[in-house]
Amino acid sequence: MTPLKTPLIDVAQLHLDYPMGHERVAVLKGLDLQVHAGTTVAICGPSGSGKTSLMLVLSGLERPSDGRVCVNGVDLGALDADALADLRRDRMGIVFQSFHLLPSLTALDNVALPLQMAGVRDARIAATAMLERVGLGGRMDHRPAQLSGGEQQRVAIARALVHRPPLLLADEPTGNLDDHTGEAVRHLLFELNREMGTTMVLITHDAAFAARCDRTLRLHEGVLVEASSAVATSEADHALSH
Ligand SMILES: Nc1ncnc2c1ncn2[C@@H]1O[C@H](COP(=O)(O)OP(=O)(O)O)[C@@H](O)[C@H]1O
Ligand SMILES: [Mg+2]
Repeated sequence: MTPLKTPLIDVAQLHLDYPMGHERVAVLKGLDLQVHAGTTVAICGPSGSGKTSLMLVLSGLERPSDGRVCVNGVDLGALDADALADLRRDRMGIVFQSFHLLPSLTALDNVALPLQMAGVRDARIAATAMLERVGLGGRMDHRPAQLSGGEQQRVAIARALVHRPPLLLADEPTGNLDDHTGEAVRHLLFELNREMGTTMVLITHDAAFAARCDRTLRLHEGVLVEASSAVATSEADHALSH
């Protein structure tokens, strides 16, 4: 029997509601999620279903109204804002649909900054290597406005992964890119994910993108439902156990 392992992400009965005038609107309604280390999970669902809200809660940027969120064995509800920021910086990489690069900084400084803030020596050397890895060795000194959308997202991916976090959260990372550029970014994300063994939660509208993950879940009426499971993996397990 496989030994039981603590999931990297363990969410139980998560509720999130937002104030709306004098009322509150419930977005997440008792959501459960477990993600094991080294696996990839896609989360789909229509616009407005709460995907970004879920990602904000997983990263500690939004506090749940109720329920428990554990990442890396740490209950986020027990952490103050500083401790949450430390956890994000040390253990997570986050990629947003709209890149979120600092406009006044070069590509190199955008990638080096989180390392410098973490007190890492040789931050610029590590950032340079990571930018070369994502194919932007020739764009180190460009500011975001001087880069194409695909290049900006590659900088954002380099920034998210430069400290080799165990967990990558990506919210529609190709949502603002054309098909061709989007495909290149998709390819890069999965390649880096494989190289680094990162656990990945990928929010996407794109079924083909989702299909490359081990599992696909759908956000429906405030909870997650299984959209498919990795049939190939379970068949392989089945074959091995016989
Ligand atoms: N800060 C906020 N305040 C109030 N309502 C919000 C806020 N953020 C999101 N919402 C609402 O919560 C719902 C889910 O939003 P979101 O998580 O962005 O969905 P998705 O990413 O799936 O499109 C939407 O109805 C949205 O209008
Ligand atoms: Mg969203």
